[in-house]
Amino acid sequence: MSAQIIDGKVIAETIRGEVKAEVEAMQAKYGKVPGLATVLVGERKDSQSYVRSKKKACAEVGMTSFGADLPANISQAELLRVVRDLNANPDVHGILVQLPLPDHIDEEQILSAISIEKDVDGFHPINIGRLSMKRREPLFVPCTPKGCIELLLRTGVQIEGKQAVVLGRSNIVGLPVAMLLLHRNATLTICHSRTKDLPGVVRQADILIAAVGRAEMVRGDWVKPGAVVIDVGINSVDDPSNPKGYRLVGDVAFDEVKEVAAAITPVPGGVGPMTIAMLLRNTLDGAKRAVGME
Ligand SMILES: NC(=O)c1ccc[n+]([C@@H]2O[C@H](COP(=O)([O-])OP(=O)(O)OC[C@H]3O[C@@H](n4cnc5c(N)ncnc54)[C@H](OP(=O)(O)O)[C@@H]3O)[C@@H](O)[C@H]2O)c1
Repeated sequence: MSAQIIDGKVIAETIRGEVKAEVEAMQAKYGKVPGLATVLVGERKDSQSYVRSKKKACAEVGMTSFGADLPANISQAELLRVVRDLNANPDVHGILVQLPLPDHIDEEQILSAISIEKDVDGFHPINIGRLSMKRREPLFVPCTPKGCIELLLRTGVQIEGKQAVVLGRSNIVGLPVAMLLLHRNATLTICHSRTKDLPGVVRQADILIAAVGRAEMVRGDWVKPGAVVIDVGINSVDDPSNPKGYRLVGDVAFDEVKEVAAAITPVPGGVGPMTIAMLLRNTLDGAKRAVGME
């Protein structure tokens, strides 16, 4: 039997609607709306496009965008100054520094300079540290990992007591999503490039989160029948039949795995739309804390 398709577009749309309603309530009660600042350094086309989508999404839910488009040769000191000015601006409730930064910039120092009250990406060491510890609450959880958990929760998937396998251990996806699953009482295995017998380990998963960046690596026979599969990967593969000459695929061989799994996210249209929805949610939460809204 074919798996249930977890529609990230529909779930993200619902969340944006919820955020928009709360933004309207904030404006009515406090005369303020949440503000998100995006800091873009250099002219990478992919980064420019991500920042454009984030600004558009802000406008659609009634939030204000603040932008800083900076030259690729900006100095560490100047970039730090931009971040500190945004920290001091009371109309800015979230600061997002678009990664990757140019090689001459010390990324850790820049991310650490963001006020933890405005760290909507959740990458500040204090927020990540709190996420990694028992009974500590980060002010913000990174958006893509939070989106993966939200997809499970809104699909009614029980996490507690389940065997979860996370494929990938990056700072931005694998590691934080693993922490979130652990806090929700899954039994956890994290796999990476040195894991032995990857198919055998993946086959134990009741819940599989794939975040490796390898096109269609997870095959149908790697997946336990009835598993729930969240595919974070976004990989472009050549496709002469497509007018663009390529198409996007996930880390999971969708057509094979959907015949085995109970539920699966598609690529595109699964985790992708959730990332921006969670960024809006985080910005709203930051603004609510700043104005004292329940
Ligand atoms: N949907 C979204 O909004 C969103 C957001 C972020 C990322 N993504 C996508 O998610 C994917 C992962 O992103 P990322 O930033 O986490 O990637 P990353 O930083 O490159 O990390 C990849 C992880 O996968 C592991 N890995 C790589 N090849 C492997 C292999 N052959 N076998 C086992 N493990 C392997 C690596 O292991 P080692 O640690 O041992 O090197 C690493 O832990 C990418 O396709 C990216 O485009 C999507």
